[in-house]
Amino acid sequence: MLIRPWQTGDEHLAVKMERHLSARSIDRRFLVGSGGRLPRFYLRHIAAGARPEWDAQVALDDGELCGWAEYGRRPACSPAADLAVLVADPWHRTGLATALVRALVHRMIAAGVRTIEADVTSGNAASHGLIRALAGAQQSPSYADGLLHYSFDLSLVPPEPQVPTAAARRRRAEAQ
Ligand SMILES: CC(C)(COP(=O)(O)OP(=O)(O)OC[C@H]1O[C@@H](n2cnc3c(N)ncnc32)[C@H](O)[C@@H]1OP(=O)(O)O)[C@@H](O)C(=O)NCCC(=O)NCCS
Repeated sequence: MLIRPWQTGDEHLAVKMERHLSARSIDRRFLVGSGGRLPRFYLRHIAAGARPEWDAQVALDDGELCGWAEYGRRPACSPAADLAVLVADPWHRTGLATALVRALVHRMIAAGVRTIEADVTSGNAASHGLIRALAGAQQSPSYADGLLHYSFDLSLVPPEPQVPTAAARRRRAEAQ
């Protein structure tokens, strides 16, 4: 399993992942009836690539996308960002969503994000489980417009330990 930042062209892998996504998973992600397809407006949105308003972390298995975690915010410098995750059905409950979000945390902090927001339908036990796994069991959502709304400090989410790159290791050795 490879977990890495979003790259240009990943939207094509996202379309290929549709065959591993149930309509229920897509509906839950987008909070609308999807007909089992990723919304076309959304594909245009992610095809624009990583930018201050939006970024994502993807998971690949043997070159195939099996999930991604993303954040979006408006304005682009806002310290609060909406978090969303979509994992291919065969990969559910393998810890993938947790790993994706934790791998995204460093880049969210570097981008100035301080608060995570998430809207979830009340029946989405997997999302509630994910938020508790990330930010602690004490998280309790507020209710607005028919959805449960979570808001919590990004510092509550333990990030993945960062493995220094060869270049970073070399620079550190040179500095010593
Ligand atoms: C929500 C979703 C991203 C979770 O992905 P996942 O990879 O299965 O999640 P993880 O395996 O990392 O599990 C995270 C936690 O949630 C719990 N969990 C996952 N699925 C669950 C379920 N169906 N019921 C209860 N708890 C569940 C896990 O047990 C885990 O808790 P733990 O660490 O205490 O054991 C995935 O179900 C999905 O893609 N759903 C459709 C889209 C969606 O609803 N997105 C979220 C809204 S934006």
